[in-house]
Parts: sequence; C-alpha cells; structure tokens
Amino acid sequence: MEKSEEKITDKKIGEKENITGKKIEGNGRSTVKKAEKKEKPGKTIVEVERLNIYYDERDRKHPFRKVRRQVGYDLSFSVEQGEIFGILGESGCGKTTLVKTLLHMVEDYEGTAVVHAAHPQMIFQDPYSSLNPARKVGWLLQEAYRMSHKKAGAKTREHIRQEAVNMLQKVGLSEKYMEHYPRELSGGQRQRVCIALTLIQEPELLIADEPVSALDVTIQAQIIKLLLKLQKEMGLTILFITHDLRVASMMCRHVLIMKEGRIVEQGETKEVFRNPKSDYTARLVEIAGQKV
Ligand SMILES: Nc1ncnc2c1ncn2[C@@H]1O[C@H](COP(=O)(O)OP(=O)(O)O)[C@@H](O)[C@H]1O
Ligand SMILES: [Mg+2]
Repeated sequence: MEKSEEKITDKKIGEKENITGKKIEGNGRSTVKKAEKKEKPGKTIVEVERLNIYYDERDRKHPFRKVRRQVGYDLSFSVEQGEIFGILGESGCGKTTLVKTLLHMVEDYEGTAVVHAAHPQMIFQDPYSSLNPARKVGWLLQEAYRMSHKKAGAKTREHIRQEAVNMLQKVGLSEKYMEHYPRELSGGQRQRVCIALTLIQEPELLIADEPVSALDVTIQAQIIKLLLKLQKEMGLTILFITHDLRVASMMCRHVLIMKEGRIVEQGETKEVFRNPKSDYTARLVEIAGQKV
C-alpha cells in the first residue's frame, strides 16, 4: 500500500519536471503527453515487495526432520536505474540471503523479488574463491567475454583479446596482468579482476556483496573509488552490501538498514544517518562515529 502511493508520487514529480525542466507549482498533469512520460528517468531495476524468505534446517532434536526457518520478514524496497543502493546490517542479519533470492539462488520465498535488468552480476567478499586458479587473467576475461557475447556473432581472436585488455585497463591494471595467475595477485588486484570479469559481460545490475570487507583500508578506498568511477562511466546500477556505515555514506544515494531479517528503516543515506528514526540505526551511527 505504502509502496504504490510512493510510486504515484514519484511519477507526478517526474511529469512535472519533464514539462519545464524544473519544478512547477500547481497541477501540471493535464498537459503531459504520453511520449514525455516515457522519457522520465527512474526505471525501476529491483523490485522487492512483501518478501518473506525461508531456509530448511535440520531439527536439532530430530536430526532426520527438517524445520522451515524464516530469515527474511516482510521486506519491501526498490532500486532505481543508475543509483548505488546500500544494504546495511550486522553479520547474519540476512543481507546475502536477500540478494541471493533476487538471483533465484534461494527458492523458498513468498512475495515479490524481481530484477528488471539484463545479465545481473554479483561480486563477493572473497575475490579468490570466485577465480579459477588454473587459468591466467587474460584467459578468464576472454572466456567471460566470449560466453556473454555469443549472440552478438563471431568475433576475431584479436578483437576479443583487445576487449579483455581494455577492460583490464578500465579497472586500473595494465596489459601485463593478462599473463598472471590469480595467485600471483594481491587482494586488491584480485578484486579488480573480479570487477573486470563481471563488467565485461555488460550487466545492467551489479550486486556487490561486501566487496571491500576483506581488504586493507587503503585498498578499500581504491576499490570504492574505482566502483564509483565505473558506475558513472557505464551508468551502472549497483546494489551494494556492507556492514560499514562509512563506506555506505561514501557510495550510496539510498540505504536500507536490516536487523534480524527485518528492514529497520530506509531512505536517503544522508537523511537516515543524520536523523535516524530507530534506536538501532542511531546506535550504529554512534559506533561508526567512534571509529573514525
Ligand atoms: N544455506 C543456508 N541454509 C540455512 N541457513 C542459512 C543459509 N545461509 C545463511 N543462513 C542463515 O540465514 C541467516 C542470514 O544469513 P546471511 O544472509 O548470510 O546474513 P548476512 O549476509 O547478513 O551476514 C543466518 O542466520 C544464517 O545462519
Ligand atoms: Mg553476507
């Protein structure tokens, strides 16, 4: 209910802006043409409504029986095209489960969990486990390009190699890393390779699950800077999971705060951190402030 009201309001604002390029007072609805409506920015890329998520677990008392345990409760939010949207919360609150549900990696759920984006991709906290250790970086990139561009027709080997080199340079690594194995890279370099591997597939949505949590602080800052740069260049939509409020405030336009499977609050990042509505968020902000 709340959701649909919000959407209607958004539309009205968009319509008014489309007419004059700036906000107009009063009722501008009657003069809006259909074509103008379509130009409205703000396509919804992720739509989650009244989502409940469950896992089957072994019953402690009866090891051969399974119990259905709820890990997500009545979750609702939406992500607009081109924004970085933060999902925040302590370890175990259900952040990963939520995004896995979006990618159909969790089956037992009720409600709406839809991604309106071609080739959504995910990057993880531990960049090493998602890289094939037996292959050089160049091979991995070219293979990812080949697999994701099958429909676009045959490309020459030279073309594919050039695409791989270009992407490597985009993430701040020179051509020589084409010949490196994952084990020969530092943590930050591995995460750069993971980002390159996902972006070469031209995703409309990137889901980053604590992508900097395992890295040193200085490397964290470099990867964050890189993600921000790429997001601007490529107009990416990013769903960014973190337990670090400072990282979220640097990156995200909107955030939602989770606790024990529930959304405690959500809104514009600045607003949420400046005027937390819940004691829980206020406490997180206080703790983050002490760390700085
Ligand atoms: N595959 C699974 N089977 C059963 N329970 C799981 C599974 N994965 C995660 N959980 C449980 O679901 C809850 C949420 O976990 P998770 O989504 O990984 O949290 P977060 O990413 O916020 O740290 C935790 O209690 C965790 O133990
Ligand atoms: Mg997680």
